[in-house]
Amino acid sequence: MRVYDLILKKRNGRELTAMEIDYLINGYVDGKIPDYQMSALAMAIYFQGMTEQETLNLTNTMIDSGETISLEAIPGIKVDKHSTGGVGDTTTLVLAPLVASAGAPVAKLSGRGLGHTGGTLDKLESIPGFSTDMTVADLVDAVKNIGVAVAGQTGNLVPADKMLYALRDVTATVDSMPLIAGSIMSKKLAAGADALVLDVKAGDGAFLKSKEEAFELARTMVSIGKGAGKKTVALVTNMDQPLGRAVGNALEVKEAIMTLRGEGPADLQELSLFLGGWMLTLAGKCSEPDEGKTMLLEAIKNGAAVQKFKELIRSQHGNDAVVDDFAILPHVANQIKVKSLRAGYVQRIKAETIGIAAMTLGAGRDTKDSQIDPAVGIILEKKVGDRVKIGEALAVIHARDDAPPEVIEAVEEMILIAYKLHNEQTEKADLIYGTVD
Ligand code: URA
Ligand code: CA
Repeated sequence: MRVYDLILKKRNGRELTAMEIDYLINGYVDGKIPDYQMSALAMAIYFQGMTEQETLNLTNTMIDSGETISLEAIPGIKVDKHSTGGVGDTTTLVLAPLVASAGAPVAKLSGRGLGHTGGTLDKLESIPGFSTDMTVADLVDAVKNIGVAVAGQTGNLVPADKMLYALRDVTATVDSMPLIAGSIMSKKLAAGADALVLDVKAGDGAFLKSKEEAFELARTMVSIGKGAGKKTVALVTNMDQPLGRAVGNALEVKEAIMTLRGEGPADLQELSLFLGGWMLTLAGKCSEPDEGKTMLLEAIKNGAAVQKFKELIRSQHGNDAVVDDFAILPHVANQIKVKSLRAGYVQRIKAETIGIAAMTLGAGRDTKDSQIDPAVGIILEKKVGDRVKIGEALAVIHARDDAPPEVIEAVEEMILIAYKLHNEQTEKADLIYGTVD
């Protein structure tokens, strides 16, 4: 086999065999195929796409490039959840304890955020003492004991993805459907879950801006999951505004606790119940998502959900008193209202702009090495559909006392730009666009 011939074959729109894909990916990981040839191949895939079979073969080869995790020692069907990423997405913090409190084991491997806001690990680590540094054996033990654990990436999962992603990032080949699907699904399947619930976001704050693209990615990932013999469901959901009201690490922990008590924002609760209903269904705890939702609402009402979050915090060495006393969480005294310059109805809140504003305050990472400030962030006082009067607060900035005035001004400006107001009330878009199963 010659790499040149395989690039040509793909460039001309023909299907690569499993053996050819193996040869290319393994050769790249072993350093035998140079970046320039892999770049040309990625660009050919970008323009020509891949068939379902090719995408599945690519995913399997990528999984085989590194270690995989086995969760077999944990009894029951282990369901994992993945979101393609949004702004202020607090659902994992809610879902891990919530779904576990309804009886399904949750063994979650999570990432740190690179992008506007912290990832699930960064958020949880804003709880004093909380540790996500676990071996696979620790993770398995914790789930056996209390039904839930959230760990940082352990082991060397899918090295092929690390290399390919870095290459795609600098060659304008990130937004290729088969490459995104292979990248996400290889990592999820290597992490050992029996079933997957995927939340594919569409909109300004998301990776894919259009609904159509999001549905295509959802279908591609579901087809890979099924091809790998795992029950897989994908929801396509709306990111035309940040999820919930809080954007920022400790602020989102507080929001998650409120939601586990049934006192959270409506959209965060709705999405959590929908995703959680599917997780319980795939875990075999109920026969359909609506029944799962009822179980979750019961766990919220009878206190089991918030109790499970306390157990999770204790199990990972955190101070579980935060659940009853938010003052224990990192917080700032410097809270600045951003007042509306006009009246109207909120039509859209550009999530990406809010994300960048939160990052500017220190809630996210600019570069891989930036430090996150767990206390800072933004609380949205107004959400899509709300009426706003002149001078009313749209949002509240939580900043450090010593934040330079020009930084605060820039953040205020971004928030004002993010809010799109209309004179008339417009019809609110659905939070959940559809389900692919
Ligand atoms: N997220 C991933 O993990 N991989 C991609 O290719 C895109 C988003
Ligand atoms: Ca939120």
